[in-house]
Amino acid sequence: MTEYVIYGNRPLKGEVSISGAKNAAVAIIPAALLVNGKSRIDNIPEISDVSLMLDILRRVGADVRLINRSCVEIDCSNIYTTKAPYDLARMIRASYYMLGAMLGRFRSAQVALPGGCDLGVRPIDQHIKGFKALGANVDVQSGFVTAEAPDGLCGTSVYLDIVSVGATINIMLAAVLAEGMTVIENAAKEPHIVDVANFLNSMGANIIGAGTDVIKIRGVKKMTGGCYTIIPDQIEAGTYMAAAAAATGEVLIKNIIPKHLECITAKLTEMGVEITEYDDSLLVRSRLPFTKTNIKTLPYPGFPTDMQPQAAVLLCLAEGTSMITEGVWENRYRYVDELKRMGAQIQVDGKVAVIEGVKKLLGAPVRACDLRAGAALVVAGLAADGVTEVEDVSHIERGYENIVEKLSRLGAQITRMQMPDGKALAKAR
Ligand code: EPU
Repeated sequence: MTEYVIYGNRPLKGEVSISGAKNAAVAIIPAALLVNGKSRIDNIPEISDVSLMLDILRRVGADVRLINRSCVEIDCSNIYTTKAPYDLARMIRASYYMLGAMLGRFRSAQVALPGGCDLGVRPIDQHIKGFKALGANVDVQSGFVTAEAPDGLCGTSVYLDIVSVGATINIMLAAVLAEGMTVIENAAKEPHIVDVANFLNSMGANIIGAGTDVIKIRGVKKMTGGCYTIIPDQIEAGTYMAAAAAATGEVLIKNIIPKHLECITAKLTEMGVEITEYDDSLLVRSRLPFTKTNIKTLPYPGFPTDMQPQAAVLLCLAEGTSMITEGVWENRYRYVDELKRMGAQIQVDGKVAVIEGVKKLLGAPVRACDLRAGAALVVAGLAADGVTEVEDVSHIERGYENIVEKLSRLGAQITRMQMPDGKALAKAR
């Protein structure tokens, strides 16, 4: 088991550069399957979710070549199966993008059904609704989703009953090579939706409206490979904003698109964090305590659910009582018991968390139960008095590139430790 050991209560100072967006990368990599040729993708984050997606592509026959740490060339000329490998696909939910991409190009796809997860039930009924509307037969059996369209896919209108990032992207992937026009209504508007659409357009697709709730995709006969650079990660940037605020000090968050961060900047400003915006960076300065603030998570441009746990840490350090309402996932408060071990006072009732501010958080051994929960515990550890040991950091490394190095450069005392088996066993008992 690997853990981070953090000696907290040290102000952060300096500059941090934000990596490419995880949730764009894990969609753009399978989107490369739509081309019978090579695509070059730059600003890929070096994280385990990306390595997994690249391995899945290799296993279906793609030739994947790393040009350097953040640039990859994917040649999909020799794909020999439309079945995503079960052992890898079940490890990452974004493997469901193999369905849209394979169906789009080969009219056939099979991927393991993504099960429930730490955030609660995660159905894919809206993805399936879209594939069926395009003319595919979709069968869910024995843990697999099989989609077939032997006669080809035909443009159509799809109204999403729920604003879903995954369904919006998957339907775009399936529709780009379909016959005629597809219209997705009530589409998700996240920055990575626009990024995937831009990537597809750069390869010859004809998509307009991405970033609004109506996306129109005019099917094209063929797409050709190209070069594309992924946008900076909105949530990684937001997490460093939260870290800079919680640990006080002064941090310049570089290589970002400030517009994508407005929903986060607005709430942090309401809490009393001082944020100065530049063209492609933000300067974050803060002093404790923060001002109590209420937050409701919503699809973009609302406050992102993926920043909810990190924001909760800041509200623990606010004067008075704040309230968070989770508007996207059914179960995103599993980190609360861990924060309570550090002295947080939080009551959860269904989708609502009521947070009573405390003067200080105190270091403690805690466990990362998912990616953003883990990031929040790191933020808490940076602000806390004493030592925080964050266990199960593999969750964090799914989505944050070099987090230990980046924080260390800002002056944090954080070390990545491989725990000897004995210690891990003792803890397990
Ligand atoms: N939903 C349905 N039916 C569907 C699809 C979604 O009911 O067919 C529901 C979900 O259960 C959820 C809501 O709709 O309640 C939104 O789900 P969405 O489909 O938007 O989520 P996703 O595409 O599975 C992506 C991110 C998540 C992020 C959410 C919301 C990726 C790979 N994952 O998931 O990111 O929380 O959008 O913004 O893009 C993370 O990065 O930590 C993470 C969990």
